[in-house]
Parts: sequence; C-alpha cells; structure tokens
Amino acid sequence: MALYRIVQAPFPPSTDDVSRFKEMRLAALQVDQDMYRERYEDALKLTTEEWTSRLTSPHQALFSAANDMEWAGMALLLSPEQLRIMNYGPPPGVLSQEELEQEKEFWVLGSQWTRPSHRRSGIAKLLMDASSAYLRQRGKPVLLGLETKQANERGRAVYRAAGFEERFTMIYSDEAPTVWMVKALE
Ligand SMILES: CC(C)(COP(=O)(O)OP(=O)(O)OC[C@H]1O[C@@H](n2cnc3c(N)ncnc32)[C@H](O)[C@@H]1OP(=O)(O)O)[C@@H](O)C(=O)NCCC(=O)NCCS
Repeated sequence: MALYRIVQAPFPPSTDDVSRFKEMRLAALQVDQDMYRERYEDALKLTTEEWTSRLTSPHQALFSAANDMEWAGMALLLSPEQLRIMNYGPPPGVLSQEELEQEKEFWVLGSQWTRPSHRRSGIAKLLMDASSAYLRQRGKPVLLGLETKQANERGRAVYRAAGFEERFTMIYSDEAPTVWMVKALE
C-alpha cells in the first residue's frame, strides 16, 4: 500500500503551498463539480493574490496527504472565527437544543478531495484523523460539521464510516440539496 505524509500547511502558507492548493482545488472542481457548491468557472478566474488570501488565515488549518510525487488529497478545517468571517455555518436544525446549550465550538471540515487515482487508499480517513487530532489537542470539546451534496452517496458513506451523523437536509432554490453532518469530539 502506498505511503502518504499528512502535513498541515504552515501559517502563512508558502508560495508552493498556495500553488499546490490552487492546482488541487481546480482539479477537484473540474473532476467532481457536482460534489461542490463552488463553480469551476468562477475558481478559474481567481488571481494568484486571491488564492493566496484564501489560504492565508490563522483561523483555519489545511491538511494535505502527499506521496513523493504530488498532493493526493486535502481537507480544510474552518474554525468558528473563520466561519464568522465567511458568513457560513450550520442552519437552524443542524444542532440539537442540548448541543446549543453546551456552547461547544463548531468547526467545519471542508474542501475534502482525494485524487481519483489515489481513492480507497485511506486518504480521506487519514485526513479526518489528522483533523480530529488537531482539534483534540486544542483541549476544548468541539462539534465538527460538514455540508455535502445529498446526491454524493460515496461522500456520505465515507463520513458515516468516520462517525458523522446526518442531521439536516438543506434545500437551495438554485442548486442541489445538501446534507449537514455532525460529529462530537470530546
Ligand atoms: C469522498 C472521498 C473524499 C473519499 O476519499 P478516499 O480517500 O477515497 O476515502 P478513504 O479511502 O479514506 O475511505 C474511507 C472509508 O470510507 C468509505 N468509502 C470510501 N469510498 C467509498 C465508496 N466509494 N463507497 C462506499 N464507501 C466508501 C469506506 O468505509 C472507506 O474505508 P474502506 O476503504 O476501508 O472500506 C473521495 O471519493 C472524493 O474526493 N470524492 C469526490 C469529492 C467529494 O465527494 N468530496 C467530499 C465533498 S463534501
């Protein structure tokens, strides 16, 4: 089985990290457009400065899985602060009353993608393990959420296998429905 290194991108990211992130994200949108809300055509128009700024935040953590040749997968953890900046987060109905009262930090796992040639090698699992380890070592209880297309049966199976619960179906007026999933990390 191939060996992969899981690495967290430094802050601020290097030029190399930005260009690998850009290549990876564009490939994800091109190959698997139906799985993402962001449009490939829009991402193609972003300037180098915009890609750099997208990755330059102290409120998020980018994990990559690489072999000797290339990045084979990635995942981006967004903190509550980053979600506020992006004006993004779980709609009402995702968290229970009890969870709301617990006032746990709510983080989002996003931009998860594994290159087709590396799939079913455990990369998504490694990236989710690294994300969970990162959150656990911060020492605060966290609810980790994610939004995936309802039609993404494979993605939903991966997340269920990792312990995420399906909580809420989000209906948009102009795009396909998504499902919010949540996992508690103590
Ligand atoms: C979803 C995705 C990230 C999974 O990546 P991956 O690296 O192949 O996943 P892993 O190898 O770590 O799989 C972990 C577990 O998830 C489950 N799983 C993975 N692929 C699966 C599939 N095609 N069908 C059913 N279960 C699957 C299995 O339980 C698997 O463990 P196993 O191989 O030991 O049985 C990848 O298929 C992908 O990038 N898809 C397109 C983009 C996408 O859907 N991203 C998520 C958007 S929210």
